[in-house]
Amino acid sequence: MTTTSFSWSAVAPAWDRYRAHIEQTKAPATTALLEALRLTPGERVLELGAGTGELAVELAAAVAPGQVIASDVAPAMVALLESTLHDTANATAEQLDACALTLPDASVDVCVFRMGLMLLEEPSAALREIRRVLRPGGRLGLVVWAGPEHNPWMVAVGMSAMMHGLVSGGPPTGPGGPFSLSDPDRLRGLVAAAGFRDVDVAPVETPSHFADEAEHFDTVSSLAGPLGVALATASADALAAVRATTADIVWQYKTEEGLILPGRALVCTAIANH
Ligand SMILES: C[S@@+](CC[C@H](N)C(=O)[O-])C[C@H]1O[C@@H](n2cnc3c(N)ncnc32)[C@H](O)[C@@H]1O
Repeated sequence: MTTTSFSWSAVAPAWDRYRAHIEQTKAPATTALLEALRLTPGERVLELGAGTGELAVELAAAVAPGQVIASDVAPAMVALLESTLHDTANATAEQLDACALTLPDASVDVCVFRMGLMLLEEPSAALREIRRVLRPGGRLGLVVWAGPEHNPWMVAVGMSAMMHGLVSGGPPTGPGGPFSLSDPDRLRGLVAAAGFRDVDVAPVETPSHFADEAEHFDTVSSLAGPLGVALATASADALAAVRATTADIVWQYKTEEGLILPGRALVCTAIANH
C-alpha cells in the first residue's frame, strides 16, 4: 500500500457529506472521460480509488449487463461504495490497493482511476498492475489534477496552512502530492512506460462554486486527505488564522453568484499494448 488508508478513511464521512459538491466540480472531467472511453454494453470495468461511488454508478449504467468492480484501498470508502451500489445489480464493491491488485491477468476490458493515481508514492507500480489486469487492447482512463497554478480552489487552503505552520514543504508537486502528475509530458511518459500506446492527455476546466469564503474553507478542508487531518487536529486559534488567510486569497474570485474558483484537471486515456 503506498498511501495510508487511515487518512482516507478518516475523511470518508466528509466525502459522504459533500458528494453533491464533489460530483458537480468533477462533472466536466467525468464527461470528457466517459466520452473518450466509449464504454459498450457487456464490458467489464475496474474502478480504482472509487471513493463514494457516484462514477461507479455511471460506469455500471454504461456497460450493463457487463460488470463493474468499484474498489478503494480505504475500508471506510469501501463501506460508502457498498451503500451507494446497493441497488446497482451489475456493480460490486471491493477493497483493493491499486499497487497490488488481487485480480487475474487480462481480466478486465477497462480500468478507470479518477483523481487517485497522483496520490500514490509510486504511480508506476499501479500503472504496471493496471496493465497486467487489462486485456491487450483494453482501455485506461485517468483523471489527475493539472498544476497548482490552475487550481487555486485547493492551493489557497494548502498555502494558508503552510503559512501558519500546520503543514510543511512547498507546493505538493512531489511524489504522492495532488499535483505530482500535473506535467502532461511526464504523465504520458509514465503511462507509455507501463505498456500503453495511443496515450492522450487533455486539460479540462473544473471550476468550483461556493456560496462564500466559509463554505469554500469548510468544504476543501474537510475533503483534503492528509491536509484535512492536519487541519482537524489544529488548535482553534491556528484554524481561525488559516481560515482568515484563505479568505484573503480567494476574495478575488468573488462574483454575484458567490465564489467561483478556477480548477483544471487532466484526462488521460490509453490503450494496453498487445
Ligand atoms: C481524491 S479521492 C478520489 C475519489 C474518487 N475517485 C473521486 O474522484 O471522487 C482518492 C481516493 O483514492 C483512494 N486511494 C488512495 N490510495 C489508494 C491506493 N493505493 N489504492 C486504491 N485507492 C487508493 C482513497 O482512499 C480515495 O478514496
